[in-house]
Amino acid sequence: MKSKQYKVLGILGNPLKQSMSPVLHNYWIKKHNLENYYCKFQLANIDNIKTAIKTLGLKGLNVTIPYKKKIIRHLDKTDKTTEMLQAVNTINNKEGVLEGYNTDVTGFLLGLKKIKLDKNKPAIVLGAGGSAEAVVYSLRLIGVKEIYLMNRTKSKASKIARKYQKVYAENWINNELINNAGLIVNTTSLGMIGYPALPVSLKKVNRETVIYDIVYNPVETKLIKDAKKQKLKYVTGLSMFLGQAQESFKIWFNIKPELSSYLISKIKKNIKKL
Ligand code: ATR
Repeated sequence: MKSKQYKVLGILGNPLKQSMSPVLHNYWIKKHNLENYYCKFQLANIDNIKTAIKTLGLKGLNVTIPYKKKIIRHLDKTDKTTEMLQAVNTINNKEGVLEGYNTDVTGFLLGLKKIKLDKNKPAIVLGAGGSAEAVVYSLRLIGVKEIYLMNRTKSKASKIARKYQKVYAENWINNELINNAGLIVNTTSLGMIGYPALPVSLKKVNRETVIYDIVYNPVETKLIKDAKKQKLKYVTGLSMFLGQAQESFKIWFNIKPELSSYLISKIKKNIKKL
């Protein structure tokens, strides 16, 4: 009997205990009868990653904290989005050439697809890490007029704001701006399991404001619960998580995998177990 030659993919980061990517990608791999396996590569450093990927013949990788920026110098090619953001979340090993992509942008925008958003109203982005910049870049792509970045450490917000037009660094939790926003996006760690809730009140925000929390563990953060309570339109972090994964899968296999309600409830169940 001929044994199958499984090609390996995975997620590179540290820590990876809470990553849902293996559950998701292995589900799609099985569904499409692909001879692959997706696993976790929790590495303390990535000094020899280029040799490792090429020697092991890995098909591709997702990259997460703390390596999204550090990985770039190990790659052979990067696309336009990656160049701008200086962050990679997907590597494709194309016959020995390591290509870097950033699918967080497509993932984030997937969550806004079915939502009516007033692009003339300012958007507030809370946080100023790598995810915040991907969100700013995405909002610029869809034509949101003004973006205010609010971060505990304002200098980090200023650094991003300097790269883009009509993006401004603001003080952490400026309620007047928050109450008049068209969109409020949380990209901080606040609300995540093990972190305090985001100190934002939605009681006085505009009725048309869209709330988007990119935190997906838990799916129902305090911010999302508050948005529901105030009857505001909202998007949970699951949209971005699923969207970026779908886009990575497309890069590796040239297949756009499904996002069925069965799969979504399977992922939600796994998140609850964390
Ligand atoms: P990512 O790449 O996912 O954006 P990150 O770069 O670690 O992750 O960014 C985490 C964000 O959460 C930062 O904006 C951070 O604020 P600082 O720049 O001031 O560190 C924010 N954050 C984390 N813990 C926070 C807290 N307790 N209060 C306010 N902001 C917090």
